[in-house]
Amino acid sequence: MKKYNVGVVGIGLVGSEMVRVLEQRKFPAGQVRIFATREREEEINGKKYRIEVANDNSFKGLDVVLFAGTEGSKGASKQWGWKAVESGAYVIDNGDDFRMDERCPLVVPEVNAHHLNKNQRFIANPNCSTIQMVVALAPLHRHAKIKRVIVSTYQSVSGTGRAGVQELYEQAKEASASYPEIKVKSKPSAYPHQIAFNLIPQISTLSEDPGFANYYKEEVKMVRETRKILDAPGLKVTATCVRAPVFWAHSESINVEFEKKITVSEARKILSGAPGVVLLDEPEKSVYPMPLEAAGRDETFVGRIREDVSCPNALDIWVVSDNIRKGAASNAVQIAETLVSKQLL
Ligand SMILES: NC(=O)c1ccc[n+]([C@@H]2O[C@H](COP(=O)([O-])OP(=O)(O)OC[C@H]3O[C@@H](n4cnc5c(N)ncnc54)[C@H](OP(=O)(O)O)[C@@H]3O)[C@@H](O)[C@H]2O)c1
Repeated sequence: MKKYNVGVVGIGLVGSEMVRVLEQRKFPAGQVRIFATREREEEINGKKYRIEVANDNSFKGLDVVLFAGTEGSKGASKQWGWKAVESGAYVIDNGDDFRMDERCPLVVPEVNAHHLNKNQRFIANPNCSTIQMVVALAPLHRHAKIKRVIVSTYQSVSGTGRAGVQELYEQAKEASASYPEIKVKSKPSAYPHQIAFNLIPQISTLSEDPGFANYYKEEVKMVRETRKILDAPGLKVTATCVRAPVFWAHSESINVEFEKKITVSEARKILSGAPGVVLLDEPEKSVYPMPLEAAGRDETFVGRIREDVSCPNALDIWVVSDNIRKGAASNAVQIAETLVSKQLL
């Protein structure tokens, strides 16, 4: 079997999960080289890896490079992404620097693998909350075109990387120790407010786009990315994104209106056969998706499907998925697998 040389840039929560996922999903990897901001040795899954600092020649000989560095002008993909493409590799970038760039397909393999092609070698991985939403909505959209989506998210702290996980852990210990006084004395740093035993209706900073007044950037990402992935530029989508005191896996309450009616049993039938979806919808037995069960899994879990009593042709659904796995690392590795299966790599 042909082997492919893989690079991973960034070795935080997402990058280290990528290395685990490559192994767990048995990606036909030859060499695996890892890059970060400083040289060192790191152990992942019991295996020692040498961490290199990238330079102009680092990507020669690599077939695919998965980016999981920080975003922005000093971030890894802005610095090295196109260099890796020039060196002959396909790039799969987890950050949001290039998601809306016309040169870059934005891909969730279960939904729009057809956007992958040999002329666009810089591929963007969508935002975690967008990925799980489109995995659940695309099969329904194919059946009865979507008119409007209203989504509220409950996003775990691992979405902020190691800093978010550490902050919830420390605050939860501090608040538990002073219970019933649960307001902590330590100053928050990963978030603008205490996250332990709280909810924060802010993810990222305010959007500067006047078309999205008072929306935070995560909410704008969900709108724009959903339209790009579904090839639906005018699709009506609105989002409220909330950080929740949960370590792993994001949850979403989605109200979706279609051009024609879909009954609950039709929706269940469609979703139970949909790629990447696991249907958990037995409300009478208290069976529905929850973050504790979704953590560590690659599937998107869907349940609580109801006909919206306030709107004809609309459904309410509840969607949960692991943001580090399907929302980042696993989706990126699945894109690489799809490049192999489509013989693009
Ligand atoms: N967490 C999620 O749920 C999630 C979901 C989807 C997408 N993403 C995106 O995935 C990326 C990584 O997220 P994360 O949660 O893993 O972050 P993280 O835990 O903060 O880790 C960031 C990693 O990037 C490395 N890095 C930063 N700048 C770099 C540069 N210029 N060159 C090389 N390496 C660089 C850091 O190196 P050092 O180790 O040397 O400091 C670190 O290993 C971000 O763009 C994030 O937005 C995250």
